[in-house]
Amino acid sequence: MQTIIKKTDVNDIDMEVIEQASDILKAGGMVAFPTETVYGLGADALDEKASAKIYEAKGRPSDNPLIVHVADTKQLEPLVKNIPDTARKLMDKFWPGPMTLIFEKSDIVPSGTTGGLATVAIRMPNHPVALSLISNSGVAIAAPSANTSGRPSPTTAQHVETDLDGRIDMIIDGGAVGIGIESTIVDVTVNPPMILRPGYITNKMLEDVVGNVEVDKAILGKMSPDVKPKAPGMKYKHYAPKAELTMFRGERQAVATHINDISRQAESEGKKVGVIASDETFSMYEWGNVVSIGTRNDDDSIARNLYAVLRKFDDMNVDVIYSETFDDDGLGQAIMNRMLKAAGYNVLQV
Ligand code: TXA
Ligand code: MG
Repeated sequence: MQTIIKKTDVNDIDMEVIEQASDILKAGGMVAFPTETVYGLGADALDEKASAKIYEAKGRPSDNPLIVHVADTKQLEPLVKNIPDTARKLMDKFWPGPMTLIFEKSDIVPSGTTGGLATVAIRMPNHPVALSLISNSGVAIAAPSANTSGRPSPTTAQHVETDLDGRIDMIIDGGAVGIGIESTIVDVTVNPPMILRPGYITNKMLEDVVGNVEVDKAILGKMSPDVKPKAPGMKYKHYAPKAELTMFRGERQAVATHINDISRQAESEGKKVGVIASDETFSMYEWGNVVSIGTRNDDDSIARNLYAVLRKFDDMNVDVIYSETFDDDGLGQAIMNRMLKAAGYNVLQV
């Protein structure tokens, strides 16, 4: 399959591009498009055959449900059995935005889209291209992140092209995304609501709107095999770079000294080394290919660069990656959740 790649300015949307993409979606095809979090791989959520193509293109396990993207509340209503009060409050505050809510699904949502679950994940993205595509096509768009399953999520159209060129109908290139990590997933079918995946909307932001919010214990650390995360996707080794990633926790100078020692050692064995530092620590490193992931004074910068840094080390074909750890409060919780998963929870204290 030849993948059509079309650019559009985010602030001056090319409606011809949106029309072409809408036609593809309406005919049961697949279009990758930018959202404010990461690029999504979209297909008609109510067409089981169309959503099945997504699993195939990504190599995604069929028990891992898709998030359905809507452009307004009217489009949400027929997809769900009911809209709980907590959901309304959260929608009023955070939609459109980087928050996905889990509802009881209505009968029109095929179980192929929801991985066989009786619930459906729904999000209203805050991105002009995504919103324009959803409303122009009239299609509720099922869209997982537009990466090959298991690889870091795509934050640019080039990342999508690397993974999926020739496997999907179209990519809309709307430039680099703003946030860089996926939406916060909140289950509003339970009381109190439960966070199934940390994201840009933090626990504190949610609690300010609806009071007490719980966190699925399975996402807080390395899982024992008998604990099943409530978001099926969280059980997979996700977000992984090709090289083995190890993280080091401890006082900054001690971490840098240790990473320098093991990097020098690895290089002397002929290995290509990648080091993930921050703006504050970048100059402390003397060995390996050192990349700053952003500044510790601004977690947003770290979130925005995270997946691109992992992909860069893939492109460079490094053999090992050594990384600092980051504070895990606020947005840091989502950052460390993704990094620890990428590292297979391989984190050492120095
Ligand atoms: O920011 C995002 O959410 C991006 C953009 C494209 O919108 N999408 C995204 O989709 O991250 P994906 O497929 O990569 O991750 C969806 C997650 C998976 O962990 C999946 O298991 C979970 O959502 N999920 C989907 N439906 C669910 C449901 N009914 N119950 C529990 N978890 C669900
Ligand atoms: Mg994903």
